[in-house]
Amino acid sequence: MKAIAAFAVAATLSVSALAETPTFANAQEAIKFRQATLKELQQNFKRVADMANGRAAFDAGVAESSAARAAELIKQPWVGFGPGTEGGKADSDIWKEQDKFKAAASRAEGEVAKVAAAAKTGNLDAIKAAVGNAGASCKACHDAFRN
Ligand code: HEC
Repeated sequence: MKAIAAFAVAATLSVSALAETPTFANAQEAIKFRQATLKELQQNFKRVADMANGRAAFDAGVAESSAARAAELIKQPWVGFGPGTEGGKADSDIWKEQDKFKAAASRAEGEVAKVAAAAKTGNLDAIKAAVGNAGASCKACHDAFRN
């Protein structure tokens, strides 16, 4: 819910009141920011997913720190999709179906938080289940909103 609130505020107000919210000089900056955070998200998520899928040896410490970082990062890209920032591989439907886009972001945020919680327990089966759901939440948004 926090990311959604930040998104809504950033979309309507000058963001100077929110010290933790990045500001962008232009659309290109916003696009670069969201792509960079999504890329770093992917790197951290994949590290956990590879362990869950048996493509990498399970290391509970690395899984925990990577999942925790992914849970932080999944909250960040959305301020980079403000008004007038169409471009990159973002589908223009994002700006026509804001509620749907925000709901997809919120769902993914919840699912990645569950991966972080599972990784904290160190239980690989719990991690596997959570990674599957989180991956599906990434894909659902990509199918709908990424070109
Ligand atoms: C609410 C929608 C949404 C969710 C949820 C989402 N993504 Fe994306 N993702 C996008 C959009 C839109 C783009 C294209 C952004 C652009 O090019 O401006 C993108 C781009 C990316 C990219 C390419 C970044 C680059 O280098 O240009 C990666 C990697 C990525 N997402 C990974 C993920 C992962 C991993 C998850 C889940 C943990 C996820 N995304 C969840 C919408 C989403």
